[in-house]
Amino acid sequence: MCGITVRVGDGNAVPELLDGLENLEYRGYDSAGIALQNDVGIDVIKREGTLDSLRNAIDDDSLHGTIGIGHTRWSTHGPPTDENAHPHTDCTGEIAVVHNGIIENYQELREELEADGHTFTSETDTEVVPHLIESKRNAGLSPESAFRTAVERLAGSYAIAAIVDGTDAVFATRHGSPLVLGRGADRYFLASDIPAFLQHTDQVVYLEDGDIARVEPEGYTITDLQGNVVKRNIEVVDWDAEDVGKGGYDHYMLKEIHEQPTALRQAVRGRVDSFSGDVDLESAPPGTFSDIDRVHLVAMGTSWHAAMYIQSLLTENGVDAGAYMAGEYATSPPPAGPNTLVLAVSQSGETADTLSAVRSIQGANVQTVAVTNVVGSTITRECDSSIFIRAGPEIGVAATKTFSSQVVTLSILAERIVRDVTGTSIRNTSGFFEALSTVPGDVQQLLDDSNAEAIAEHFLDSKSYFFIGRNTCYPVALEGALKFKEITYEHAEGFAASELKHGPLALVTDETPVFAIFSGDEDDTKTLNNVKEVQARDAPVVAVGSNSSQEAIGQADYSLEIPETHPAISGVLANVQLQLVAYHAANKLDRAIDKPRNLAKSVTVE
Ligand code: F6R
Repeated sequence: MCGITVRVGDGNAVPELLDGLENLEYRGYDSAGIALQNDVGIDVIKREGTLDSLRNAIDDDSLHGTIGIGHTRWSTHGPPTDENAHPHTDCTGEIAVVHNGIIENYQELREELEADGHTFTSETDTEVVPHLIESKRNAGLSPESAFRTAVERLAGSYAIAAIVDGTDAVFATRHGSPLVLGRGADRYFLASDIPAFLQHTDQVVYLEDGDIARVEPEGYTITDLQGNVVKRNIEVVDWDAEDVGKGGYDHYMLKEIHEQPTALRQAVRGRVDSFSGDVDLESAPPGTFSDIDRVHLVAMGTSWHAAMYIQSLLTENGVDAGAYMAGEYATSPPPAGPNTLVLAVSQSGETADTLSAVRSIQGANVQTVAVTNVVGSTITRECDSSIFIRAGPEIGVAATKTFSSQVVTLSILAERIVRDVTGTSIRNTSGFFEALSTVPGDVQQLLDDSNAEAIAEHFLDSKSYFFIGRNTCYPVALEGALKFKEITYEHAEGFAASELKHGPLALVTDETPVFAIFSGDEDDTKTLNNVKEVQARDAPVVAVGSNSSQEAIGQADYSLEIPETHPAISGVLANVQLQLVAYHAANKLDRAIDKPRNLAKSVTVE
């Protein structure tokens, strides 16, 4: 939700700022801008629309500066216009600021600054920051002290970078929003996320809340709010620059769908013994969860669907578990105590609702584990321990490979929990773990053979799209519908198969295809009855299932077949077919697949 880039070093910063913004566009894309520090002062250029509008506006190479800040926006305060685009400046144009997050007390600060004679030109919360720095400068403070004391006045969540005319430095800080520093051979970067500068360096420093970084061409210093120097380690990330390109695919989403076999291999590698069923999770050795009597999974969107999937697996295996939408959990946390385990599931590790859920139970003495894709993300610092899903960077706004990696990683974690809590093992252990080990190959086979494009084409003019499933296939139904609606902009809904007849059936007609997901276990019989109910109302049915669900496939009008696997894993494979249906439908409708309207990948506001 908004992306920040900073570049400090020799040569013109413009190309690297723009390339960095391109790699962060998944965080927001309704306006973009950059500010450069050069011999004549500070130049700002910003445009409503995607980064291309900004690139077109920079139509010659007259814009230059060795130090620059950039921003790609996902609007919160004020619509996407040139005026509301970042960077924002003070009254004199000598201070420029980019910001990600929300400044909660901006109204009060703005009134105070306006009363002091400051003139505002945007509707954003951000604009108070350059004016605050300006007022501190007017009071005689150095640029760094002015920045520090301005930041002290802010409430809310923010990552901020600022440049001040005449000072060869960028000042930056974070509180609740991500900001990482990159150390290149002869230049430095700051960004909301590593892909912004990965092509220049893999050496990163994860800034912590309250850190103030001063980055100059010669080096950087990090201090706390009081001005004491703090030491932060330089870490080397193991992502490749190539991981953040499209690799020959038309869209990141398609590339990431096709990366699932590799991502799943990485998720499983070294963690399960498919013969003995032993689990080896780095941060959760045997006995870690022996005192746990209930599990709360908190997450949003696709991650919530992965959490629901695992809730089914845990409850079915004797562990009391609930999957909560994190925003609701934060509003009204259920009872939790020392025997509660909270699993915070978040691809980005930065989702405000999920962080808020974790914070809502602070003080209840619960054990918290982050399950995330991003090393160094905020959630890893707020939870007691972390387990990484190892999916590699995901750039497409619609989550795809990370859902599969979450489910598989959480399944391994679920086995550890079931063993610690009940002394038993997930049903039919050997079959389950063999399925975990073969799932990468199964996904590859499915990708090679899928008829999803033909199905997408066939149903392109439908009125609505419904998705139904039971047990672990219920969250897959929700996920199939979420993916479909977010990238096609067509109406799609997921339901528990049992729920249809309690109301939604009224919507079912011959113009509403129903995708019915089958796991291959005894629940299929009931879902098959639900299929017959919708067929009796003339709805065309697409069955998604394996050979074990032959009866369902025979009954349905169309099918998307998946390789034979353990019923607890079928949903992962079915979901890949539904990702492909959504992708091909959106592609045929010519939608902005990687950057669907109104959305951003990392949602850092509640
Ligand atoms: C949908 C999607 C979102 C995210 C949600 C949570 O395709 O990507 O629904 O799943 O915003 O994000 P994370 O997992 O980063 O917490």
